[in-house]
Amino acid sequence: MRSDLADKVGIDVPIFAFTHCRDVVVSVSKAGGIGVLGAVGFSLEKLKEELDWIDDHIGDAVYGVDIVIPQKYEGMGEMDPAKLEETLQAMVPQEHHDFAAKLLADHGVPEWPDADDKMGMLGWNAGMASLMVDEALKRPKCRLIANALGTPPADIIKRIQDSGRLVGALCGKVKQARAHEKAGLDFIIAQGTEGGGHTGEIGSLVLWPAIIKAVNTPVLAAGGIGSGQQMLAAMALGASGVWAGSLWLAVEEAEAEPAQKQSYFDATEEDTVRSRSWTGKPCRMLRNEWTKAWETEGNPEPLGMPMQGLVTAEAIRRTHTYAAKGECQKVAFNPVGQVVGQINHVETTRAVVERLLTEYVDTLEYLNNLMPE
Ligand SMILES: Cc1cc2nc3c(=O)[nH]c(=O)nc-3n(C[C@H](O)[C@H](O)[C@H](O)COP(=O)(O)O)c2cc1C
Repeated sequence: MRSDLADKVGIDVPIFAFTHCRDVVVSVSKAGGIGVLGAVGFSLEKLKEELDWIDDHIGDAVYGVDIVIPQKYEGMGEMDPAKLEETLQAMVPQEHHDFAAKLLADHGVPEWPDADDKMGMLGWNAGMASLMVDEALKRPKCRLIANALGTPPADIIKRIQDSGRLVGALCGKVKQARAHEKAGLDFIIAQGTEGGGHTGEIGSLVLWPAIIKAVNTPVLAAGGIGSGQQMLAAMALGASGVWAGSLWLAVEEAEAEPAQKQSYFDATEEDTVRSRSWTGKPCRMLRNEWTKAWETEGNPEPLGMPMQGLVTAEAIRRTHTYAAKGECQKVAFNPVGQVVGQINHVETTRAVVERLLTEYVDTLEYLNNLMPE
């Protein structure tokens, strides 16, 4: 199948895969869709390394890069990431650091071996994201940039479009989609509440058509895409393609530790929650002792973004690295959407793309057969 947006991007099938893993980016792009690398968790140096690797392995295919510039965050306006971090670090109560450290210790999550190797502030701000965009724009095979959590600033939109690339952004409400369109974005990603990561409150089946009706910009359907049937439903509602994230978390190429992948396999669609406990903004993830602890009265309340991220950056690194140690999974950061209930075993990335396409075609045939002669 095709769409005008897919043609513009230069891909065979309108499957957009959000992932933090460079191998998944390459595999999806080589299978005919497009892999989009989530950059927020990388330092600038690490991002360069990952993009170098992708450039070397992706052949003639194209890819995208995803950044995070929230519409609102503490310390907005400070464009020097180091200064911003210093200011924000001073605002984090020690109580929050102690609470996070205790949760990890109580569940047997090992300490990081090198006390001097500290996690700095990640890319949750305009200063760092702008540097990331500069890095991405040096790469001819990078075809698009997407932004999470708001309309990107006008100068970033201009830089991306002037370079001949496409720029898009996620949203969870019609009014946000309208703001994206007004800012001149090339595509809009409408993410229903069931999606993994930061997500709003409106379900995909209602949100997608509402946004598609409200704007003339191509819309990608996100939140709840786990099969070709779900992809067909999105296209039937007028989407220009699908944008999936959870689907790639436990594929063979995904870097996650087996214990984290197992948590995803064990979970059903009932086991996720929107929680501010890791990033400061509502984010869908597996419910566990960590998410419950931050909701319990009397315990510290999560700070805003990006300050809560300063509290949890170390915990993310430790729970991902030591996924199988002690009771780590009870306090691990496992972001995922409700579609987790459909993710039950390891598949290769290529097999997932092929499955989506086969199910799509079979379902279309099924629907055609329902029509009277
Ligand atoms: C583990 C994880 C991390 C995510 N991080 C980001 C992010 O950094 N930037 C972003 O634009 N979207 C992020 N998302 C949202 C995805 O881009 C995508 O919209 C979402 O996964 C779609 O819903 P689905 O999970 O049902 O496929 C993340 C999703 C997951 C599952």
